[in-house]
Amino acid sequence: MSSSLRISICDPNESTRENLKKFLIGMDNVFLEADCSRYEFFSEIVAQTTPHAAVIDIDADQETGLQLVESLARKYPDCGIIVVSSSSDGQLILKAMRSGAREFLNSPVQIEELVGALDRVSSAADGGSKSKAGNIIAVAGASGGVGTTSIAVNTAVALAQHPECSVALVDLDLALGDADVFLDMIPDYTLLDVAQSVSRLDLALLRKSLTKHDTGVYLLPRPIQIEETESITSGDFKKVLSLMKASFTHVVLDLSKSYSELDSTALEQADQILLVTQLDLPCLRNVVRILTTLDRFDDSKQKLKIIVNRAGLDGTQISSTKAEETIDREIYARIPNNYVVISECRNNGVPLIQQAPKAAITSAVNELAARLMGSAGETSVGGDEEDSKSKKGWLPFLKK
Ligand SMILES: Nc1ncnc2c1ncn2[C@@H]1O[C@H](COP(=O)(O)OP(=O)(O)O)[C@@H](O)[C@H]1O
Ligand SMILES: [Mg+2]
Repeated sequence: MSSSLRISICDPNESTRENLKKFLIGMDNVFLEADCSRYEFFSEIVAQTTPHAAVIDIDADQETGLQLVESLARKYPDCGIIVVSSSSDGQLILKAMRSGAREFLNSPVQIEELVGALDRVSSAADGGSKSKAGNIIAVAGASGGVGTTSIAVNTAVALAQHPECSVALVDLDLALGDADVFLDMIPDYTLLDVAQSVSRLDLALLRKSLTKHDTGVYLLPRPIQIEETESITSGDFKKVLSLMKASFTHVVLDLSKSYSELDSTALEQADQILLVTQLDLPCLRNVVRILTTLDRFDDSKQKLKIIVNRAGLDGTQISSTKAEETIDREIYARIPNNYVVISECRNNGVPLIQQAPKAAITSAVNELAARLMGSAGETSVGGDEEDSKSKKGWLPFLKK
């Protein structure tokens, strides 16, 4: 959802109003402009606060509540009205929608439903485009060892350096994930714990279940035992993601290479997908394969970004131009090769910005993060650090 979704609420019932307030205050991307206990004052409050969304609970007086919805929808067409009621009567829902409500939520409101409604209202406010922030960024790899985790961890850290960002990193390589090693952390809870208790979690508890790194990133690691990996269902994972989306401006997912059900859910739920590849034939062949699969999903084309890692590795690499031709896609960012620095990071459990703040590889990751936030130019990011000759070596296969 948009980074500063401004909301006003109206609910004469104190207990449901407080409940709603508690949810909204816990959301990092939401600013609660006003909470009002009287229908008759709310129109004036909306006039003064001009919120992106107004949440109105109509249970105290359905008729007055719906009249209010109708008059607000007429006067403030840009304000997304979300109606809340404990009744799920079809006629009432129809009336609410005809009065101009954009969303209808059943009370007691479930956090993930509220998040979904706010997200839809927010993307409508963005002109129908997929929202820019509240972003789920899935980082996938074209092959084992291409640098998915290195890029996921360091991009999350780079995002967290922006004061307006709050960032969580989730390790989805359930069997062999090592995001915790990259940050030298031993978290108390794992993705399994959070997934299993998701129906009891609120935003405050969710945050408490995550461990904060000193760079500001919150980590949710893979389960401890390999045999536990089966226990996370894609439904529970979806709920975890929607809570995280409400609680953080950016959620970075480090995917496994097995393209499992959870990986597919991550790709489907993501606002942006970074597909990490190297400039060699096996990787590029996999990129084409993955692209063909993703092309079946409607919006994956816009959200997928090709990230070349280890750019400039050696003279046998395929050139960027040839790679772009082969995969029929532009390269979004190039992260230079720097084995020494990356190995030091890994062995010390320290991210790039702390290990080598001035290295070109660090700048490339910082630029990538800035661009993902939508705050950098649209030119491609990064370059070759160690070997600028690399653009020569095309494989015969690619020469035709
Ligand atoms: N830009 C880079 N330059 C040099 N070595 C890299 C770079 N990115 C990753 N590596 C190395 O590649 C190996 C695999 O990285 P990793 O991030 O664990 O990949 P994946 O998660 O895709 O398996 C590691 O040994 C890491 O040090
Ligand atoms: Mg990995």
